[in-house]
Amino acid sequence: MNDNLHQLRCFGCGAQISGVDARPDFRCAECGDLFEVEYPGWARRQSHDRPNPGALKWLWRERKCSSEPLDNSGVWRFRELLPILENFGNAVTLREGNTPLYTLPRAARALGMDQLFAKHQGMNPTGSFKDTGMTAALSVAHERGFQWVACASTGNTSAAMAAYAARAGLRSLVLIPEGKIAWGKLAQAMDYGAVTCQVKGDFDGCARVLTQIVCEAPIYLLNSVNPYRLEGQKTPAFEIAEAFDWNVPDHLIVPGGNLANSSALGKGFRELQELGLVSRLPKISVIQAAGANPLVRSFAESGGKRLEPVEAHTRATAIRIGNPASWRKAACAIVETGGWCLDVTEAEIAIAKAELGAEGLGCEPASAVTLAGLKKLRGEGWVQASDRVVLVLTGHTLKDADYTIDFHRGTLLSAEEAAGNEERIERLRRNAQVVDATPQAVLAAMKGASA
Ligand code: F0G
Repeated sequence: MNDNLHQLRCFGCGAQISGVDARPDFRCAECGDLFEVEYPGWARRQSHDRPNPGALKWLWRERKCSSEPLDNSGVWRFRELLPILENFGNAVTLREGNTPLYTLPRAARALGMDQLFAKHQGMNPTGSFKDTGMTAALSVAHERGFQWVACASTGNTSAAMAAYAARAGLRSLVLIPEGKIAWGKLAQAMDYGAVTCQVKGDFDGCARVLTQIVCEAPIYLLNSVNPYRLEGQKTPAFEIAEAFDWNVPDHLIVPGGNLANSSALGKGFRELQELGLVSRLPKISVIQAAGANPLVRSFAESGGKRLEPVEAHTRATAIRIGNPASWRKAACAIVETGGWCLDVTEAEIAIAKAELGAEGLGCEPASAVTLAGLKKLRGEGWVQASDRVVLVLTGHTLKDADYTIDFHRGTLLSAEEAAGNEERIERLRRNAQVVDATPQAVLAAMKGASA
């Protein structure tokens, strides 16, 4: 198969351009919308370029036993479905992907469900799902000879970008909203050598400034407006389908911030269906924090056709985004698959996160919106007891340890936010105790905890 078969197609007006002709801000010159990568050869049935489903499934399984770095990557293992590089030898990989799909037996029981799974994307090299997209888009930057890459971020994109840039020997520039990202993520960007600017403003402001910068200087933009990011971020869809022997789950539940991840996963499943690797699509539902819910509002007001930016407020800082770039793509994935778009409160997020933690699966607050959202979907009767559901956990629990510690110390939520949930919160809290250095004191603490 030819290695370079892709072109870019505008999601708004359908304009088609070659990958190298994209503007530095990745906006369509005709209508200003975002591009999607497409592979024209796949549409022609008899074409040599159309991948053969049976052969692909076999090849991808075989690669699991390979010791080649590219085969060890859960993204590049599926490289036939993301032929975005002239030469796959230019791929920059940290062995991303191949993340675990865990069962959640306690949460399933509590929700009266037969089977519930968590695809833990926090188990990637820099601790978030961003690595899968970054290996793809940064490899393109590397192949095209850029010296500098940049992103605006709520923290995880910057951590991923800085790490992959360091691997490739590129310089990286990070714009983050001052004081509004978790320290763990900021620490990563510093450690991986990025030039890190804490901008006095919010994420949406950072994105605006950066768009101007890349239009003036030869810096490659690695935000998710870059369509190659989504090519990497679609691969967890392949991993999930493969894990269920190419039967897709009934529901996939994804957090929504800038709305690229839900878009990418929707694209991944759609391509699997178009290529005959799976026979149907999972319903994709997007869950936002109530204080950062522009897409939820958009569905309520216009059925997902228009979006008014909001001023975003949530302690789930990863999804503190009021003007999401990929909202049209995400709305399309929701409508096309028959999913829903809901929001959840700060207390619901904190409770769901503690429940996942108590099941041995720590995650970021932004990831926990998925379980909180599932409870609502179940309550509405939109998810049945026998449905197979996958929650996408997007970030590692250690990314934002302050949030977790504040929850267990009882200082996270205001009385107003916790109202009505006090008992559930108390049951989940496990504060660290200070005890005397004697066996009696420790045994007394254990006795107190089991009471
Ligand atoms: N979960 C986590 C842990 C995230 O870091 C993000 C986004 C999301 C969910 C939402 O995904 O934006 O594709 O809808 N973080 C970005 C960043 C914006 O800069 O790290 P999305």
